[in-house]
Amino acid sequence: MALIDVQEIKKVYKFGDLQVDALRDISVFIEKGEFISIMGPSGSGKSTFMNILGCLDKPTSGQYILDGANVDNLKRDELAEIRNKKIGFIFQGFNLLQRASALENVELPMLYNGTPALERREKALSALKLVGLLERAHHLPTQLSGGQQQRVAIARAIVNDAPIILADEPTGNLDSKTGAEIMELFVRLNKESNITLILVTHEHDIAAYSRRMVRFLDGSIIEDGRVNK
Ligand SMILES: Nc1ncnc2c1ncn2[C@@H]1O[C@H](COP(=O)(O)OP(=O)(O)O)[C@@H](O)[C@H]1O
Ligand SMILES: [Mg+2]
Repeated sequence: MALIDVQEIKKVYKFGDLQVDALRDISVFIEKGEFISIMGPSGSGKSTFMNILGCLDKPTSGQYILDGANVDNLKRDELAEIRNKKIGFIFQGFNLLQRASALENVELPMLYNGTPALERREKALSALKLVGLLERAHHLPTQLSGGQQQRVAIARAIVNDAPIILADEPTGNLDSKTGAEIMELFVRLNKESNITLILVTHEHDIAAYSRRMVRFLDGSIIEDGRVNK
C-alpha cells in the first residue's frame, strides 16, 4: 500500500462565471521513504497540490488516501490531528514566530497534542541538535541567518516524528550555498530517518538532490520519473 495514493484529483476555483482549473486530473502513488521534487512554471498547480497532500485543502473531486485513510471522509478535527501527526510543513518564508526562541518555535507543534512540558523540551532540543542548531536554541529568529531559520523550521517539522515533510520552495529565500546545505540536510533526514520528502522547487540544481521528479504544467502532470545521478 502506498503512503500517498491520489486518484483523479481535480481542483476548480470559481469566481462568478470565471473558472480556474488549478488541478485537472492528478493521479500519483508515493511510497514511504521517497524523495520527490515537484517542478513546473508559476501557476501550474504545485502549491494547490501540496495543500491537498497536506490536508490543508480538499480537492473538488477525486480521491486521496493517506496511509490507508480516505481523507475525504475525515472531519475537521480528524484532519487537524492527521496534519499534526503525519505531516511537517516547510515554507519559503520559514514561517517562524518572531517573538519566540528557536526552542519555543520547535516546541510549538507539541503544544497542540498535549506532550508534557519536560518531554516537549527534550524532543525540541534533540530536533535542534539533529539540524545542527543546538547552540542557537535560545536565539530569536531575527538573531539567526536565513539558513539557520530554515533549520529551525525543519526541526519544527520533524519534532513530532511526522513521516512526511512537505516543503514549498524551501530554498527560495536562500543563497545557493545555504540552499545546498539545506538540501544536504534533507538528504540526510530522508536517508537516516526514512522521512518521505516532497518538495517544490523551480531550480534544477535543487531538484537534483531528489530521486524522483514530477513535472506540472497547467494543472496536469506531464512527466514523472527518476532523477539520474
Ligand atoms: N485560493 C485560490 N483561489 C483562486 N485561485 C487560486 C487559488 N490558489 C491558486 N489559484 C489559481 O490556481 C492556479 C494554480 O496555482 P498554484 O497552485 O498556486 O500554482 P503554483 O504553485 O504552481 O505557482 C493558478 O492559476 C492560481 O491563480
Ligand atoms: Mg506555488
